[in-house]
Amino acid sequence: MRVTGTGHASMRIDTAAGSILCDPWVNPAYFASWFPFPDNSLLDWEALGDVEYLYVSHLHRDHFDAAHLKRFVSKDATVLLPAFPTSEMEDELRELGFTKFLKAPNEQVVELDGGLKIMIQALTSPTDGPIGDSSLWVEYDGVRLLNQNDARPTDLSAFAELGHVHAHMLQFSGAIWYPMVYELPQAAKTAFGKQKRDRQFDRTWRYIDDLKADHVFPIAGPPCFLDDELWQFNDIHGDEGNIFPDQSVFLSEYAKVGGTNGVVLLPGSVAEITTSGASTTHPVPVEEFFANKVAHLEEMRERKRPVIEAEKASWRHPEVDVLKEMQRRIEPLLEESIYLAKGVGGPVRFDLVSYDGESVESIVVDFPGKQVRPYADEKVRYRFRTERALIEHLLHIGEVDWVNSLFLSCRFSAARIGQYNEFVYAFFKCLSTERLQYAEGWYDEHERSTDAEDITLGDWVVQRRCPHLKADLTRFGIVEGDQLTCQLHGWRFDLASGRCLTSVGHKVRAHRAGEQQTPAPAGEAAS
Ligand code: FES
Repeated sequence: MRVTGTGHASMRIDTAAGSILCDPWVNPAYFASWFPFPDNSLLDWEALGDVEYLYVSHLHRDHFDAAHLKRFVSKDATVLLPAFPTSEMEDELRELGFTKFLKAPNEQVVELDGGLKIMIQALTSPTDGPIGDSSLWVEYDGVRLLNQNDARPTDLSAFAELGHVHAHMLQFSGAIWYPMVYELPQAAKTAFGKQKRDRQFDRTWRYIDDLKADHVFPIAGPPCFLDDELWQFNDIHGDEGNIFPDQSVFLSEYAKVGGTNGVVLLPGSVAEITTSGASTTHPVPVEEFFANKVAHLEEMRERKRPVIEAEKASWRHPEVDVLKEMQRRIEPLLEESIYLAKGVGGPVRFDLVSYDGESVESIVVDFPGKQVRPYADEKVRYRFRTERALIEHLLHIGEVDWVNSLFLSCRFSAARIGQYNEFVYAFFKCLSTERLQYAEGWYDEHERSTDAEDITLGDWVVQRRCPHLKADLTRFGIVEGDQLTCQLHGWRFDLASGRCLTSVGHKVRAHRAGEQQTPAPAGEAAS
């Protein structure tokens, strides 16, 4: 099996029974904030796109690059489609001209022509990607590969059961706006960023240990930020709180925990993988490339400047009445929302900075009051500050996912009162009836489900499954003193009260070993 690195989470897998192109991403994403790193725009995409199969793991725009798919990927390719709850991905691909789809049943091995086997695991909680993320397992001629991508399953047993894996590709770097955009003192930001960076690596080591593949390929990040306004997010400034470590940092951190089987793929690197080993050739030596990273980024910044400027010029739509349009789009969804609106539980304020860079319009999405209205000098749960032009653009194009556009762009700042609230982001990811209904149904089901199994961790008996997204706490749970941390996403819980310290809601069921569990008061869900 041959794997060609094509940048970020993208790769081309070649076998004698056919080739699969995965997640090709070249054009900037999220308001021209993210670019692939290292640069992959100079690869021979005409040739790379001439494949029998296309796999797009999910709809995040650094995985689903519509313009690139349309222009460069063969429309004869059969799309290997994850079993997502909504048809959005298939609909978007059809619009781009793809007509052949293989809807892979979830976690079932499918045999394609010539003995090529695949299995796709689709994750479908509202917090997995834009309503769905997935991983692709491939087997040909005894060689097995898992492209885990940036998916975060609770464990990898579904793949491990299929036999020893030879190549494991997975994410290790950050892909979010936290904590950089928060209006916090720099020292706090650095401390939170450092925590997050450590947690990302810890999670990666766990997955690697789960699968024990022969070779580990760090993929799916980091992106690079080429706009001058965002340049500080590149991990080139010696900031230990930067959440975007690169592949060479991965190798050195991995070595510290004893990892010796890491393989970096630059765009154009080719790995030949067999059951007994892997040999990789690179367009330039990997160490040399990373030693010249700053020069690479600076050169790319100059080359891409016109692309960023052209994008910026397209955002302004002064004819859009933002308040009116937000009312029209969002108020019906607030009416429909039960779980998400209750979960947010307070007003969320948008401060929109006008073209002059000074005047500000303040709009509140009032979740309890189910309306969108001008800010009325009240306490709010979250406050976002961004350019009015960005919101105009989102409204102009009818964007249903402000997470997969505005928030991932990092072109905003935020402040909040109290804990992180996942429902705020879940709601702004679901600005269509179809998405909202799905998310509401998912939370409804999870609110009602009881999870009776308990485990002992240190001095505590706790429910086996994490109240967040059901990670198995026998593997991901760590108890220190009276605090439980679930390492899948780093959420913390106070065991004495059961209270989640990371996000509102999500109480954990726990009691000291040897003591009787106090029954939860009527109506209070333990999970
Ligand atoms: S599953 Fe997310 S923190 Fe436990």
